[in-house]
Amino acid sequence: MLSDAVRSLLCPVCRNSLTLFAASGGSRLTCPQGHSFDAARQGYFNMLVGKGTVFEADTAAMVAARFDFLSKGHYRPLAEAVAELARPALRGPQPTVLDAGTGTGHYLHALLAAVPAGAIGLDISKFALRRAARLNPDAVNLVSDVWQPLPVADAAVDVVTVVFAPRNAAEFARVLRPGGRLIVVTPRPGHLAEIADQAGMLGIEPAKEERLAGSLEGHFAAHSTRELDLELGLGPDDVRNLALMGPAGHHLDPAALEGLVGTLPPVTKVSARFRMSVFVPLQRPSA
Ligand SMILES: C[S@@+](CC[C@H](N)C(=O)[O-])C[C@H]1O[C@@H](n2cnc3c(N)ncnc32)[C@H](O)[C@@H]1O
Ligand SMILES: [Zn+2]
Repeated sequence: MLSDAVRSLLCPVCRNSLTLFAASGGSRLTCPQGHSFDAARQGYFNMLVGKGTVFEADTAAMVAARFDFLSKGHYRPLAEAVAELARPALRGPQPTVLDAGTGTGHYLHALLAAVPAGAIGLDISKFALRRAARLNPDAVNLVSDVWQPLPVADAAVDVVTVVFAPRNAAEFARVLRPGGRLIVVTPRPGHLAEIADQAGMLGIEPAKEERLAGSLEGHFAAHSTRELDLELGLGPDDVRNLALMGPAGHHLDPAALEGLVGTLPPVTKVSARFRMSVFVPLQRPSA
């Protein structure tokens, strides 16, 4: 239910709690000080206060490519594995999950299918959230910047998932309850190696794991890691979508990409290599 996660939300302006109302033609979140946020036609709420991080937003074409690729289920085993890692922390009476950088919402969708929970999907891209809000109508989908204070109360969520998206360690630690889990998915060296060069995709730096641990230091302790390798058989359209949906989608030459896609066999074998890292928040010193 949409309302299940609303109790975890804070007004991004005054940090009071928010209440959900049915408004004409949609729903509205309001705080006691009168700040209000109307749901967009597609169902998401815009909580950006100020300008948000200056970053190159994913284009509609990149989001469409990600939606098509993920909808075909190529990465479903990854989504299911993330759900299993989340499950132990979602056993309480009113569990809540926050998917930071939710994109098109596919990973959150798989998680909610496996483990019922209140859910918040957060992303800075409206294009992505339009899709996510349709896929996960029972989640609260928020346009919000992960580098700003999150519109979420302290210790209000049981699990934070971050799949190929930016990580704000201090904010994730603040919103997680003690004993909650942060689950981070990153690519490992060799991910999509068979097509990465040809399709102009960016390589994976070998030191990514150390960088991840370093970026969470002081806020999280490592709990466990799990690796997952998928051997994919991809059609030319899938390869095009993979190339477009990642960060390289910003600067790929469309003509060169079409040239490559035209030369591909009906099925290209590609290995996807993922790492799922689970962290637990460090005890905060009591005030
Ligand atoms: C590579 S995509 C991954 C999306 C989704 N988790 C998935 O794996 O399909 C990275 C996502 O992070 C979002 N993002 C980038 N910077 C952000 C920020 N500052 N705050 C919130 N989301 C951000 C992007 O809009 C994008 O949807
Ligand atoms: Zn307010």
